Amino acid sequence: MFVLSGVLIFIVFNIVLSKPVVPKDPIYGQPEQIHLSYGLDPSLMIVTWVTLAEVNDSIVEYGQLDSFDRRAIGSISIFQDNGTERRIEYVHRVVLRELIPGQKYFYHCGSDVYGWSPLFWFTAMRNDSNFVVRMAVYGDMGKDNAQSMARLQEETQAGNFDLILHVGDMAYDMNTDNARFGDQYMNSIESIAGYIPYMTCPGNHENAYNFSQYVAKFSMPWPNNTYGGDANHYYSFNVGPVHVIGFSTEFYYYLEYGFEQIINQYKWIEEDLKQANKPENRAKQPWIVTMAHKPMYCSNNNDDECLYANGYIFIRVGLPFIQEFGFEDLFAKYGVDLEFWAHEHSYERLWPVYNLRVHNGTKGAYIDPDAPVHIVTGSAGCSERHDPFGVPRPWTAFQSDDYGYTRMNVYNSSHLYLEQVSDDQGGKVIDSMWLIKSQHGPYSYFKEKF
Ligand SMILES: *[C@@H]1O[C@H](CO)[C@@H](O)[C@H](O)[C@H]1NC(C)=O
Ligand SMILES: *[C@@H]1O[C@H](CO)[C@@H](O)[C@H](O)[C@H]1NC(C)=O
Ligand SMILES: *[C@@H]1O[C@H](CO)[C@@H](O)[C@H](O)[C@H]1NC(C)=O
Ligand SMILES: *[C@@H]1O[C@H](CO)[C@@H](O)[C@H](O)[C@H]1NC(C)=O
Ligand SMILES: *[C@@H]1O[C@H](CO)[C@@H](O)[C@H](O)[C@H]1NC(C)=O
Ligand SMILES: *[C@@H]1O[C@H](CO)[C@@H](O)[C@H](O)[C@H]1NC(C)=O
Ligand SMILES: *[C@@H]1O[C@H](CO)[C@@H](O)[C@H](O)[C@H]1NC(C)=O
Ligand SMILES: [Fe+2]
Repeated sequence: MFVLSGVLIFIVFNIVLSKPVVPKDPIYGQPEQIHLSYGLDPSLMIVTWVTLAEVNDSIVEYGQLDSFDRRAIGSISIFQDNGTERRIEYVHRVVLRELIPGQKYFYHCGSDVYGWSPLFWFTAMRNDSNFVVRMAVYGDMGKDNAQSMARLQEETQAGNFDLILHVGDMAYDMNTDNARFGDQYMNSIESIAGYIPYMTCPGNHENAYNFSQYVAKFSMPWPNNTYGGDANHYYSFNVGPVHVIGFSTEFYYYLEYGFEQIINQYKWIEEDLKQANKPENRAKQPWIVTMAHKPMYCSNNNDDECLYANGYIFIRVGLPFIQEFGFEDLFAKYGVDLEFWAHEHSYERLWPVYNLRVHNGTKGAYIDPDAPVHIVTGSAGCSERHDPFGVPRPWTAFQSDDYGYTRMNVYNSSHLYLEQVSDDQGGKVIDSMWLIKSQHGPYSYFKEKF
């Protein structure tokens, strides 16, 4: 009896007096969250990863066979999350240079002291315009319920894609649980992003603490060999015959982080489009494709903006009263061919549309259309699940609420093919489109003004 109560007292004593056990992150310097992005030049590839402990070395060993005959050294930046724990992570960035276009490379990253990542591989971008560029495009993929992830991983490692465009919203949210959701998400995309460039733009789910985790962890290209940081909000790059522009629609909805960002971005995109339209540039990259999160047009019934034909009007037409900094006119004026959006957790293909009117081509809707083509592809899978559709709009060509992602092949200067994969239906292609253009440039209603 005495013994038993002694034990009981001992237990109670321990429960009352001992401090609660707080689980801590293991402090180790092994690389995690490894991912690739393109530089501005085909001879470059950027490797980015994170260590949770301070590791001062950022090294990539790589080579054309499974021996590493080259070594590149990079830089470290410190990311501090603004959650209660103020967690610190170390972001490592290494630029691989003088890659042979089209050549396959093997690599691992890390340091001699703390060890190395597993083996990864990638193919350097080709430096001509005469190859078929194959992309997977999607938005709104979370840490949980990321239904398309397994199929994307399988397709990526089978060599089906050259790159990914992730059209904003990831992890749901990166800052949750003191930034651990971001860590887990970045680790879960490693099986894709460690092998092909993972090009991104921000969505509303990245907004916490001024988009700080998103800005810290990606490495989108910017002139003068700088990567990441502000460039993650807006930037452009060329791949084969395509000029891709990624930008932020979120500047328009989180004004507390700085109104001037709207103006800076708009001016930058306008200048970028001017450059891209110089005859010598447009001859090499005839296709101009944009990606940004919140759509100009949508027909879902869960979202105030989509309930009205106007869509996300700040993005399409511009800020209230002044009616400036909207993208619909800018993109028509500079002959943008294709625009990817997400945010709605569904897939919608539109007829060529400008200013709330369909502008089909005369030989077929998508044969020399007189307006950009919009695709809303935000159904990769996340904890917020599906967004159902309302009534189709006059410009709605196809709607699907299946989980999945878009595949796009750009064949040459005239032929672009796009299809929607349904993960719900075992990878079945549920929609497809050929966009055929004999010429690229401003649409008819802008030709005089151009
Ligand atoms: C990393 O470098 C800093 C500054 O030189 C130094 O204070 C720190 O001890 C180093 N950390 C490790 C783990 O080597
Ligand atoms: C592509 O790269 C190869 C090897 O670096 C070089 O010889 C060739 O001139 C380049 N071609 C173009 C079109 O830049
Ligand atoms: C970070 O948190 C502090 C207080 O906890 C707050 O004052 C500050 O505005 C936050 N910073 C950002 C960028 O959200
Ligand atoms: C790149 O560097 C040059 C020379 O230092 C500078 O004039 C230019 O403004 C820089 N460009 C950007 C986009 O930072
Ligand atoms: C938010 O971050 C951007 C750069 O990414 C910076 O220009 C801006 O000043 C920041 N805003 C605030 C309120 O800190
Ligand atoms: C555009 O083309 C599609 C496909 O041929 C057709 O269904 C639709 O009605 C056309 N819209 C207009 C406004 O011509
Ligand atoms: C462009 O690619 C399409 C699809 O493969 C093909 O039918 C067409 O002939 C090609 N055009 C040229 C000019 O190579
Ligand atoms: Fe969103």
